[in-house]
Amino acid sequence: MYESGKRSYLDLPSEAQAALIDAARDASPVRGLTHGYYKYPARFSPVFARAAIQTFTKPGDVVLDPHVGGGTTLVEALAAGREGVGVDISTLAEFVASVKCTILSEAELDTLQRWAIKLPQRVDIHRPSVTFEDYEALGYYKHLDDPSRWRLRKAIDQALASAVKLQKPRMVAFGRCVVLRTAQWALDGRKQPPSVDDFRISLMEYAGEMLRGARELRAAVKENGRQSVTVLRRNAWGLQHDPSLFDLRAPRLVVTSPPYPGVHVLYHRWQVDGGKEVPLPFMIANKLDGAGGSYYTMGDRKYPELATYFANIKATMSSVAAIANHKTVFVQMLAFSEAHWQLPKYLEAMEQAGLKEMFLSELKKEGDGRLWREVPSRRWYSEQRGATPASKEVVLLHQKLIPSQPQARQSVRHRTGLPARASSATA
Ligand SMILES: C[S@@+](CC[C@H](N)C(=O)[O-])C[C@H]1O[C@@H](n2cnc3c(N)ncnc32)[C@H](O)[C@@H]1O
Repeated sequence: MYESGKRSYLDLPSEAQAALIDAARDASPVRGLTHGYYKYPARFSPVFARAAIQTFTKPGDVVLDPHVGGGTTLVEALAAGREGVGVDISTLAEFVASVKCTILSEAELDTLQRWAIKLPQRVDIHRPSVTFEDYEALGYYKHLDDPSRWRLRKAIDQALASAVKLQKPRMVAFGRCVVLRTAQWALDGRKQPPSVDDFRISLMEYAGEMLRGARELRAAVKENGRQSVTVLRRNAWGLQHDPSLFDLRAPRLVVTSPPYPGVHVLYHRWQVDGGKEVPLPFMIANKLDGAGGSYYTMGDRKYPELATYFANIKATMSSVAAIANHKTVFVQMLAFSEAHWQLPKYLEAMEQAGLKEMFLSELKKEGDGRLWREVPSRRWYSEQRGATPASKEVVLLHQKLIPSQPQARQSVRHRTGLPARASSATA
């Protein structure tokens, strides 16, 4: 790190900066490894996560994503031989990230391959339905009994029943994820659902694609060494007190994309029929839903100046800062509905969380000196009801603020031997 004017710059060679900048601006479609298991809303590009990992960490280092969503960071950390820790408040994110980071054995992959080939036969609209009654009673099949969708609902249930028969929990989870991905394709954001025949074929195709991804991840881990991955389903606020992290080394890199201020993203629902929200993904993943939309987006947009959002982000990033050290680099990708006031407020929240903004010298001459990128596709916004388009994202860089030591006071305490509060009261 070095200082110039009021700004602090990360001490990185020009080529490393250029690689990071290019990766942040990369607009190629998401592909490779297990990234295609689910289209997690507002996921970031694996190319970006990979570049951040390569730039700021060495094999064996700890990489943390405190808003891990679909687990992009963890998959890249695992493939690169880094230890990954992911945290998310959503049970659906926990499911997706965990399945994507499971290294299946050759024998398990072969069994799943055989299952995938027979999967289309398991869906037969003329055979009796299988219903997951507990979930039905809790309303997880909402909006699926419409005449244009009941056949698909039956097909999804039959495919799910077949996944459950795989028995071994990690294989069942993979099977459920195949159904999740195919049902997402069939239902989410579509006016007209596909035919059951198309659904059957897609089940097999997605399963095949996912198995190829699983093999690719397995090969990468074999080549780069196997490190552990931890997925925690919890609020990132209070993370420093989680007993499962007591032995964790300080992360070398925190790379994350928290919910965006003022931007409404539906993390926990699919939309059918022009906007009707369905909780079905949780039922397919065999998980219970958390709460309303604001639970997943750090607060309701109705509060003036997004007060709950900024209180939450300050709290979560303070907790993350508490488990980091002065070498940890924080890389965040964000969008705003109104950047002109939300970005300064966001930066203020980071400062209150104990983080100091860092810059790249290669961007000194660009705009405000930050790493902005055009957003290639707003599909995931345009599908959301009441969406606020945001055409740009910014990558923010931070390191932990090192508090300066109050020397004079310390020496007084030494001399008098009084506890801190007593000595300042007498001062
Ligand atoms: C933009 S998404 C992350 C997407 C992720 N980068 C990916 O590639 O899939 C933001 C995530 O933050 C999670 N989240 C919201 N509030 C949280 C909190 N207080 N603690 C932890 N996670 C939270 C949401 O559930 C959501 O999955």
